[in-house]
Amino acid sequence: MTDLTLSPNLSRLFVTEIYRADLTKIAGFDGKIDEMEDTCRGMADDDETGQDWSQKHGYLGYTSYASIEDITKYATVFEDLKRQLDIHVNTYATQIELDLNNRKLKLVSMWVNILDQYGTHSGHLHPHCAVSGTFYVSVPPGASAIKFEDPRMAMMMAAPLRRGNGRPDRQNFVSFQPMRGTLLLWESWLRHEVPINLSEEPRISISFNYA
Ligand SMILES: [Fe+2]
Repeated sequence: MTDLTLSPNLSRLFVTEIYRADLTKIAGFDGKIDEMEDTCRGMADDDETGQDWSQKHGYLGYTSYASIEDITKYATVFEDLKRQLDIHVNTYATQIELDLNNRKLKLVSMWVNILDQYGTHSGHLHPHCAVSGTFYVSVPPGASAIKFEDPRMAMMMAAPLRRGNGRPDRQNFVSFQPMRGTLLLWESWLRHEVPINLSEEPRISISFNYA
């Protein structure tokens, strides 16, 4: 286990903070996750525009990203999820001390991802928003983690690498392994990727942006 205590002669600046919560702990929400899984699978079967978009863009599986404008209108279980997200996103915004002028962050987009075996999602960020995140509906054995990239990477042209066995908060890439029910939030400028998915069953998640 890495010792996360800092030496007294070091100051920590310019932090990147990722929020993690387990929504299976919320009373009554476990059954909602099962309902969400059925709904996501049904959506993938029905949404031909989304199927076509996924195929055309090399997405192995299905995403509603470009086809369903507002999934909270598609099924009430996504409204239930949005209610939880509203709470957690604004808790995170408070914790990381975003100055929002007493305004609350609002959901601007939310979409379903069903990633089949060998599917990936290469490095990207989410422009025009403040907080982004993913809620994990199904994470079968072998399913990909999510990998975050040090936002200072572009300025590290000649910098030495960090020792691979060092503190996780000094690494240039850090992976978070989610479980069913995990909610992860990060600031939208943070680049992330989903490495190759090795699970035989699809990895199902719901991603979203707040601004
Ligand atoms: Fe993303």
